[in-house]
Amino acid sequence: MAEPRTRIDFTDPDVYVHGIPQEEFADARAHAPVCWVPQERGSAGFDDDGYWAVTRHADVMTVSRDSDTFSSREKTAIVRFGADMTQDRLEMQRYILLNMDPPQHTQHRAIVSRGFTPRAVTSLRAALQERAAQIVSSAADAGDFVNEIACELPLQAIAELLGVPQEDRHDVFNWSNAMIGQDDPEFSDGSDPIEPATSLLGYAMTMAEDRKTCPRDDIVTTLVNAEIGGEHLSSDEFGFFVLMLAVAGNETTRNAISHGMLAFMEHPEQWELYRSTRPRTAVDEVVRWGSPINAFQRTAKHDTVLNGQSIRAGQRVAMFYGSANYDENVFTDPHTFDITRSPNPHLGFGGSGAHFCLGANLARLEIDLIFNAIADQMPGITLAGSPARLRSGWINGIKHLPVRYR
Ligand code: HEM
Repeated sequence: MAEPRTRIDFTDPDVYVHGIPQEEFADARAHAPVCWVPQERGSAGFDDDGYWAVTRHADVMTVSRDSDTFSSREKTAIVRFGADMTQDRLEMQRYILLNMDPPQHTQHRAIVSRGFTPRAVTSLRAALQERAAQIVSSAADAGDFVNEIACELPLQAIAELLGVPQEDRHDVFNWSNAMIGQDDPEFSDGSDPIEPATSLLGYAMTMAEDRKTCPRDDIVTTLVNAEIGGEHLSSDEFGFFVLMLAVAGNETTRNAISHGMLAFMEHPEQWELYRSTRPRTAVDEVVRWGSPINAFQRTAKHDTVLNGQSIRAGQRVAMFYGSANYDENVFTDPHTFDITRSPNPHLGFGGSGAHFCLGANLARLEIDLIFNAIADQMPGITLAGSPARLRSGWINGIKHLPVRYR
């Protein structure tokens, strides 16, 4: 039988110009749920000729759970780099937790996981609630919701946890934006994307030096003191840990909040319902609806079969969360934004495997607090222009969202 193929590259930024390509994903789910996407060698930063696109919920779960078959390390979990990705740079990616396999992954994740448990995150609640109220109250009558509201709480929260002082937080924010926005001319001037990464890594090293003499109650100090098998983390391991947390903490929750606000403004009856009942189910519907990360990928460690499709050792397999989260076999009326949806087994935070989002509890708390603050202080918030989408095949982002707050 011929291999199911698609001519759409679901990692191509141009495919997301109008948002998640719902029709194309629905077609793939129905007719070619595990389909081969040819790519020109090197065009996505990988020295191979394509990847398998996995679009159904059940198959994304299978891949994400099975790290014995599907490696995050071999060709990295990230679906697309610039065509200028060199072998050296791919090697550097291996210092990032996302791109590790067990047992290395288990050891590294354990260093920080205690800081992100439901209990640890609950202890941040009062401070973040106050911060959310301040962020919302400082907005004028109208403005850009993304820059003025959606960005702020995730930035302040991750910066606080890492131990980044207030005066440096916007530098960290800008470096993180430049790394993630490398396909978007607004955030990248076409210069080498390694530059903001180098700046952030350099900044992390100065923090490490400081904590060696002045330890604090923050993640940087935890990482500086951490040992695996009696050895401290190398400077690369340390730097990339900080970089990943800064980027992951900043770039994702912001988009969940922006997509959620847009969905509320486009579905005023859901906003009304939210304001009057504040259902706890709203947060997960916001994450499902927005699906802030389009995809992560794995590499088959050995020949295998997924949903009847043969996959050869060494081939890449990309899991499209934005498709799985609208899978009609799992979600009733998936294209309805329903903040009372329950159950809501969305895969916005990844499947259920070892790499399940470390920050999911924190992200849920941030989303909950910011929408509560908006509902308290800006009940009449309305859209005042067209949203501008981030040009990216990886992050499903909104970069500007003009609104009238009051
Ligand atoms: C992993 C999504 C917020 C930190 C992941 C993964 C997804 C995801 C899909 C899985 C990666 C994989 O399977 O390879 C999201 C979304 C968020 C969010 C949609 C917001 C709504 C956060 C926050 C943090 C964070 C606030 C804060 C530190 C991480 C880390 C990993 C991760 C460290 C890697 C875990 C590992 O490899 O073991 N996230 N994330 N995320 N996320 Fe999140």
